[in-house]
Amino acid sequence: MIDKGTVDRIIETAEITDVIQDFVNLKKRGTNYLGLCPFHNEKTPSFNVSPSKGIFKCFGCGKGGNAINFIMEHEHLSYPEALRYLANKYNIEIEEKEQSAEEIKEKNVRDSLQIVTNFAAKYFRENLKNNQEGRSVGLSYLKERSIREDMIDKFELGYSLDQWESFTQAALKKGFKQDYLEKTGLTIVKEDKRYDRFRGRIMFPIHSLSGNVIGFGGRTMKKDEKTAKYINSPESEIYHKSNILYGIYHAKKAITKNEKCYMVEGYTDVIALHQKGIENVVASSGTSLTENQIRLVKRFTPNITIIFDGDPAGIKASLRGIDLILEQGMNVKVLLLPDGEDPDSFSQKQSASELVKYIEENEQDFIHFKTRLLSEEAQNDPVKRANLINDVVRSISMIPDGIMRTVYIKNCSSILDIDEKVLYEETNKIRNKRARQKHRREQAGREKEEKNNQNLTSVPSFIEEVYSETQEKEIIRLLLQYGAEELYTYKEDKYSDPKTLTVAQYIIKEILNDELEFKNLIYKQIFEEYLDILNKGKHPEKSHFIYHSDEQISKLAADLLSPAYELSEFFKKKSGVYVETEDMKLKMLVPEAIIAYKRKILEKAQKDKEKELQQAQKEGQEQDKIMQLQQEYQTIAQAINSISKDRGWVVFR
Ligand code: CTP
Ligand code: MN
Repeated sequence: MIDKGTVDRIIETAEITDVIQDFVNLKKRGTNYLGLCPFHNEKTPSFNVSPSKGIFKCFGCGKGGNAINFIMEHEHLSYPEALRYLANKYNIEIEEKEQSAEEIKEKNVRDSLQIVTNFAAKYFRENLKNNQEGRSVGLSYLKERSIREDMIDKFELGYSLDQWESFTQAALKKGFKQDYLEKTGLTIVKEDKRYDRFRGRIMFPIHSLSGNVIGFGGRTMKKDEKTAKYINSPESEIYHKSNILYGIYHAKKAITKNEKCYMVEGYTDVIALHQKGIENVVASSGTSLTENQIRLVKRFTPNITIIFDGDPAGIKASLRGIDLILEQGMNVKVLLLPDGEDPDSFSQKQSASELVKYIEENEQDFIHFKTRLLSEEAQNDPVKRANLINDVVRSISMIPDGIMRTVYIKNCSSILDIDEKVLYEETNKIRNKRARQKHRREQAGREKEEKNNQNLTSVPSFIEEVYSETQEKEIIRLLLQYGAEELYTYKEDKYSDPKTLTVAQYIIKEILNDELEFKNLIYKQIFEEYLDILNKGKHPEKSHFIYHSDEQISKLAADLLSPAYELSEFFKKKSGVYVETEDMKLKMLVPEAIIAYKRKILEKAQKDKEKELQQAQKEGQEQDKIMQLQQEYQTIAQAINSISKDRGWVVFR
């Protein structure tokens, strides 16, 4: 957590034109500045920056906001990350809120590893540029491969000398602890010997999303078979292979702009394409993609094109991995290079425009590609054909979008010369099986969670909130009036110390767990402000809202906190229940208020879903779509049934 004082200081210091100018070329126009919008493609500038108001606005794509928003949007950072970025830019020291000793220790280790790695990157670069061996072996090799000087600089390439411990000695002399050298994997320590991991290698630094060097790949300069062509940094506290893609830092802007990401295999492929002006490219570094790597790309675009060398065995091996990308709902295309070419070699034989043209003309849809590839191979062999159909169906079943699945089934049925219906049934079989498994897993998870957290029934995530004035108001009233009061104590397990939950914490937990948002904007603002203050470690004073600078809020707070609404008064209206103490009343009223709110949302959703279902049946929509609607209807009905059983203090047994 960054404290309020620091946040204020950052906001005061970060002058918006100065922040944006790092990314956009701005020209002064009257009192404002104008430039080409970085968020969409345009030829005439419509991106405006107003230094006096501290805001930017693009009249082309509509994006706008303050300096922090700009950094969040442009660099794909979260709010705290953007603050940190700006603090760093303006040398503002961030005062973190108290951290535990453990947290501080972990952070210090990470920081130290980061500093060592930065030092190493600089050291290797220096070797490549100014050391005799570096120049004669490393630099001349890169020249021979026609890697330009500007690319060497852009990717911060370096060279590690062919000596046992030149780096290790230099780092120790600089005062770095051997422990950290070992943890980054730059130095290997065996018994009482230690030596450089990377010796006699061209160094490719691997950058994090925000541009820090977190690891290295090193290519040997030796030609013998025994030496591994590449070795890479091992996992460390700053380098998690499966979460990062080579080149993502240098590609992210171009990926957003082109709405597409190219995926290649190797370090040199990325650099070769950059050299030709294709910058939206990342490398998997020769291994199969992980879910996190796919999500990383998906943060920037849903469109991915995988570039394959023309090697059939390699292609077949990677087909399975691509299903994972489909499952994430991404649009996958493939591009096959001519036999024996990789992106590096191929791009060197073309001009930039020829290359772009080749890519555009030759990329094909993944599922079609796969279907054709496998069906050529299966020919008339019945066993192979059966496997092939299974294989294609499995890929199709991974696609989350029903309409897209339908389109694929149609196309593949004609490529494979198989009845659409068969493909349908097989796809649904796989999907149903997967859904059942998922349901079972979730159910098990939910039961466990319920025992721990005594949660009320959840509103399923596909449901939209409705405007429910009375219910929202009641929740806000309880929050303002009784927020800081203790609602119940609980133990996380048998042996842990009891913890208390306040009324506010309970309400917030219930609302945020279901990702609900108040529709009334004043209530919403109060809720969020309350949450903000609570996140800083204390409950807000009642006076915070009563004397709020926003008149609507102060009036509302004054009204809700007036004696007319006192608990006992309010409570008389609930007939037939005998409740003794104030404490018991809270235990009943607070959950009741949440139940009433969720119920309202659920019942409206049920009506809507029923209509939607009838409409879909009338229009004779796809079976898949109808089944999905039916399932959603069922889910809502179950939730209503279950929330009707949730009852006030019963929750807190
Ligand atoms: N790779 C690796 N370890 C190896 C071989 C390959 O980590 N022993 C990874 C590297 O990230 C490499 C990628 O797989 O960039 C692709 O391998 P390859 O095609 O063999 O290398 P290129 O990048 O084409 O390297 P070069 O052109 O220098 O031969
Ligand atoms: Mn190569």
